[in-house]
Amino acid sequence: MTFENVLTEITNSVLTITINRPSKLNALDLKTIEELHEALLQAENEKSVRVVVITGTGNKAFVAGADISEFSDFSIEEGKKMSSTGHFKLFNFIENYSKPVIAAINGYALGGGLELALACHIRVASSTARMGLPEVSLGLIPGYGGTQRLAHLVGKGKAMEMIVTADMITAEEAEKCGLINYAVAPEEVLTKSYEIAAKITSKSGNAIKTAIKVINAGYNNHLNGYEVEIEEFGKLFGTSEFKEGVSAFLQKRKPDFFRN
Ligand code: COA
Repeated sequence: MTFENVLTEITNSVLTITINRPSKLNALDLKTIEELHEALLQAENEKSVRVVVITGTGNKAFVAGADISEFSDFSIEEGKKMSSTGHFKLFNFIENYSKPVIAAINGYALGGGLELALACHIRVASSTARMGLPEVSLGLIPGYGGTQRLAHLVGKGKAMEMIVTADMITAEEAEKCGLINYAVAPEEVLTKSYEIAAKITSKSGNAIKTAIKVINAGYNNHLNGYEVEIEEFGKLFGTSEFKEGVSAFLQKRKPDFFRN
């Protein structure tokens, strides 16, 4: 399937998805959300993909938010639908994706753009990137999970400050408060993301999928993360990848989790 607003490329088991609306600073309209969903859905069962990197075209913006022109005259019902569709199709979908998703933040990550990065599992940002949730300037609040995920990463106090002031923070500040994993020079954003991806691609895909599931369970009010961990830990003993990992260790060789 070809897309209009996103570019996709698979290299070394890593799918790179580039949001490609530079004239709108890669703002997320509904079509782009749909295409991101489709690209991720296709890659879910694709064995040649073990990690996903999401970035934006150019060096100015990762994503400058939801597309303001698209929702400018929405009703209450349309606003609610926009939020719930986004949660379901993209933001929760990424958070619970079975393969690690890395946000390579190459510039502004604002509003829905920062929420997209927050839904990813790991974040690498350019030292020139600026991040914020400016929705209160528009008479809104973050509606793609930002009120919850930002607080999970940086704590309630810092999240409150960022959301109610609408302030943007630098990559350096974002790294300091735990919002991003790494701030790097602009030309190293993708290199650093691929370096992290390369560490992941040789590991057990089953174990990684399970780790994502169990870590997320701890942030789900309806689940007990410890109980989920016990259950899922046990299940892994029944997998061929566990047998391969342990045999390789005992035979002093590198495991090959991808023979089949
Ligand atoms: N939705 C729709 N269009 C957007 C957009 C968004 N979130 N962010 C930027 N654009 C568009 C601008 O309207 C402009 O389009 P135009 O050339 O047709 O007028 C183009 O992208 C370039 O943006 P511009 O504002 O001219 O660039 P800048 O360098 O002066 O400012 C920003 C950059 C990111 C500070 C500014 O674009 C901005 O504040 N964007 C909105 C951020 C926001 O509130 N996001 C949350 C949305 S919920």
